[in-house]
Order: sequence, then structure tokens, then C-alpha cells
Amino acid sequence: MLKDIFPFLGTTIRTPRLEMRVADDAERAALADVAVGGIYPEGKNPFTTEWAEVEPETLRRNFLQHHWAAMATWKPEKWTLMLTVFVGGEPVGVQDVGARDFGVTRLVNSSSWLGRDAQGKGLGTEMRAAMLEFAFTRLEADFAASESFEGNLASETVSKKNGYEGNGVDTITVAGEAKALNRWLLTRERWERHRRDDIEITGFTPECRPLFGLEE
Ligand SMILES: CC(C)(COP(=O)(O)OP(=O)(O)OC[C@H]1O[C@@H](n2cnc3c(N)ncnc32)[C@H](O)[C@@H]1OP(=O)(O)O)[C@@H](O)C(=O)NCCC(=O)NCCS
Repeated sequence: MLKDIFPFLGTTIRTPRLEMRVADDAERAALADVAVGGIYPEGKNPFTTEWAEVEPETLRRNFLQHHWAAMATWKPEKWTLMLTVFVGGEPVGVQDVGARDFGVTRLVNSSSWLGRDAQGKGLGTEMRAAMLEFAFTRLEADFAASESFEGNLASETVSKKNGYEGNGVDTITVAGEAKALNRWLLTRERWERHRRDDIEITGFTPECRPLFGLEE
């Protein structure tokens, strides 16, 4: 069983409205269709790369390869857990969480997106809270970081509602243009003040720990 080799494939995070776990290939293909259906209005790319700015067939292929790459390149020193978000059993978006040298830094980073139909209903806030519950309780993180372009108010509000504070500004290039990228940081102490009490996590067994750079 794949789950015996990558035990975190058996981990599920549930909130009252959604479920998050690593998808299988059929679910990944369905998720690629959600991405093809649209994530943001034309000309408003909120991402640091232009992954969603390609033709549908290319997007589907690149999308699957990106999700496979996360598994294919997984190392305890550098990992990204691609959690697919399901509502009513259907994939609606992604909440990832990743780190470098997590066993030492105890710092996770994350990014997320929802198909446009699923946006603006509070799901983005809830899936971030679910990821944070996982990171701070199961992974024993001390810090969670996030980034959003200046003007991405939905992403910025999701960070603030979950307790993150501003942590400076970077300037990066996207498509040859300089863009201001706001950095956000959440400490364990602030997370405890914003934490929800309705998130359930199953299947994070002791065997999962070394894969994240933690002692068993
Ligand atoms: C960012 C994203 C995941 C947030 O998820 P969401 O479900 O749309 O967000 P929520 O419904 O939880 O809304 C969060 C808050 O942002 C506010 N908000 C949403 N869009 C807004 C906008 N355009 N202007 C101002 N506030 C906005 C909401 O009012 C809500 O605050 P409230 O609860 O106080 O009313 C989602 O919008 C998305 O996928 N966007 C495109 C991809 C993206 O930007 N990803 C992040 C890259 S860093």
C-alpha cells in the first residue's frame, strides 16, 4: 500500500465545511479542471509564477506534474504537502504547507487557491485555519509564514483573520514587472489566541513524523 510508504497519505483534516488530504490521480485530474475553470480575473494573477496563464491542455499537464513533483522530490529536509480541499466530496482548491529544514526551524510556509465559484464564502479562511491546526498541533510548528501581493485583499484578510501579522515587504519580478509582495508571520502564541475548536485531524501516525524532519 502506498500509505505504508508515505504514511501521511492517510492523514485527513476536517472542518465543519471541508476536508483536506492528498488527492489521488483521478481527484488531481478533477482539480486540474477546477483550475482550468478559472482562479482569478484576467490580468490579476495573484501568484508568484504564471502557472495558470497557459492553454487548458498545458495547464492540466503542468498541474499534474507539479503535484507529482511535490511527492517525487519529498525529503525530510524539504517538503511540500499538497492538500486538496474537498467540499461535499468535490475538489475545489488547494491548501499547501511546506518547509525547509523544518526539524530545525519549526517554520512552515503555505499558499492556497480556490476555483472562482468557491471563493468569497469563507472557505479560504477555514482551510488556512485547518492547515494551521495541523501545523501547530501535529507538526509542532512554532511559526507559520505566508505571502501575498500588495492589493490581494482576500489573501491578506485570510492571513489577518487567522492571526498573522505583517513581516515586511519583498519586491519580486513577475513577467518582467516588479511587484510588492507582503510577508506575513504567525507565532504559536498568536495562533493559540485565534485557534478554532472545530477542526479534526485523523491518520497522522507516529510513522509520519520522520518524513517531516521530526523525531519519531
Ligand atoms: C485567497 C483565497 C484562497 C481566499 O479564499 P476565500 O474563500 O475567497 O476567502 P474568504 O471568503 O475566507 O474571505 C476572507 C476575507 O477576505 C475578504 N475579501 C475577499 N475578497 C475581497 C476583496 N476582493 N476585497 C476585500 N476583501 C475581500 C472577505 O470579505 C473575508 O473577510 P470577512 O470574513 O471579514 O468578510 C481565494 O480568494 C483565492 O483562491 N484567490 C485567488 C488565488 C489567490 O489569491 N491565492 C493566494 C495567493 S497568495
